[in-house]
Amino acid sequence: MHFPSRDTPEYETLDPKDWEEMRALAHQMMDDAIDWLESASERPVWQAVPEEVQQQLKTSAPQLPSEPTSVYEEFKRDILPYPLGNTHPRFWSWYMGSGTFMGALGDFFCSLMNPNVGGGNHVAPLVEKQVIAWIKDMVGFPAESSGLLTSGGSMGNLVGITVARNTNCGYDVRHEGVRAASGPLVAYASVETHSCNRKAVETLGLGSEGLRNIAVNDDYTINLDALQAQINADRAAGMIPFCVIGNAGTINTGAIDDLQALADICQKEKLWFHVDGAIGAVAVLADNVRDQLKGMERADSIALDLHKWMHIPFEAGCALVRHEVAHREAFSLTPEYLAREANARGIASGMFWFSDYGLQLSRSFRALKVWMSIKEHGLQRFGRMIARNVEQARYLGELIAAEPQLELCAPIGLDIICYRYNPGGLEQQKLERLNRDILGELHEQGIAAPSYTTLNGVYCLRVAIANHRSRFEDFDLLVRETLRIGRELEPT
Ligand SMILES: Cc1ncc(COP(=O)(O)O)c(C=O)c1O
Repeated sequence: MHFPSRDTPEYETLDPKDWEEMRALAHQMMDDAIDWLESASERPVWQAVPEEVQQQLKTSAPQLPSEPTSVYEEFKRDILPYPLGNTHPRFWSWYMGSGTFMGALGDFFCSLMNPNVGGGNHVAPLVEKQVIAWIKDMVGFPAESSGLLTSGGSMGNLVGITVARNTNCGYDVRHEGVRAASGPLVAYASVETHSCNRKAVETLGLGSEGLRNIAVNDDYTINLDALQAQINADRAAGMIPFCVIGNAGTINTGAIDDLQALADICQKEKLWFHVDGAIGAVAVLADNVRDQLKGMERADSIALDLHKWMHIPFEAGCALVRHEVAHREAFSLTPEYLAREANARGIASGMFWFSDYGLQLSRSFRALKVWMSIKEHGLQRFGRMIARNVEQARYLGELIAAEPQLELCAPIGLDIICYRYNPGGLEQQKLERLNRDILGELHEQGIAAPSYTTLNGVYCLRVAIANHRSRFEDFDLLVRETLRIGRELEPT
């Protein structure tokens, strides 16, 4: 292998060979990006990746360089046309935000500056601290509480539940492990709680039995009597309750548990109160939701997502913990090669490291896209976008209620509507088949992207309106098209 000497102009790096060519290409990319996002509503909400494109994507790893322009052309041909769809105004699947352009630019500069925000003395941790301070203030957490940005709600919940376990198990679980507990450690959450909480409890070595499934009321909020009864029974059986997880917006129907009552139970029972606010915590910004979230500010920890209803590009979640020391003690581990000295100078100076508050050592500068988006729009505008989605959910609910062939399947929680096409006279199985096909057609014809769920055994279409681009007429269209497709597919 030939390595040119150190001073030759051909000295090889991964920088562009020709900066001016790269400048021109980057300008072109930016123009294309703006055109693409500006025209999002003119494209189908979704289209399948054609078979030939799937084949084209399958290559062996390139061993030799390609021209940057040809890499970009390939991206434009094989990748850009086939997104998930969540930049489109009629994407309402699962629970996803729609992104912000400033957030995308923040992502670009995050990669360009490319800092590792695990630790060290540089500006990125200061930006993350600032963003965390804004979020603490938003949800009513004290300034001395701690927090960090995470990949999403799943990691946020894992952080909160880990601190809960370590704090409340009554011994040094980091050292001795769960096998040293004097009885099974158990946490509590409603049956409507997101599966990532179960994963967290399993990951913590408590088994899926370690998360007690509590029944819900008709509005899908946790049944408090059932919760209290389960805690009593578990204590009587020698188990060690350590945490209650409350929902600020469930994934199926957007239900908000009675967070005040859960905080009271936790206070009385000396349990950690964790709130899964992945969906709804940021709705404290919305005038038409804020009151429903009362009690969240009493939590010991909160997980929330900024890539959902705050529309920050993926990934952007957050964990907040009221008790900074407990938080740090759950995750801090400082071997010699990461040791910090109080009087260190330069890049290694400063004792605060975000890696002391979570599992990751290397961490991206995801705070930048959050900081830039919040600076650009201001929290009040985010609040108005959230409030409008809630109004749109009510509007869609009214449209559905006015159509005899459509049926609401659950009370409307926050911005989530569950409904189905039901012309009457069809048995459950046929109704389910029909609604599955309606959903398939809505997606495949590129019209709209609800998802689905099953509530009390009833299959229904689920519209989760975390979308700042949706307009009221988009819901007129959804109803019109559901009816059209339903009539076309109805078995005779
Ligand atoms: C209520 C709730 N909690 C947690 C999560 C997991 O969050 P993430 O996908 O950001 O990891 C979700 C995801 O939809 C959710 O709806």
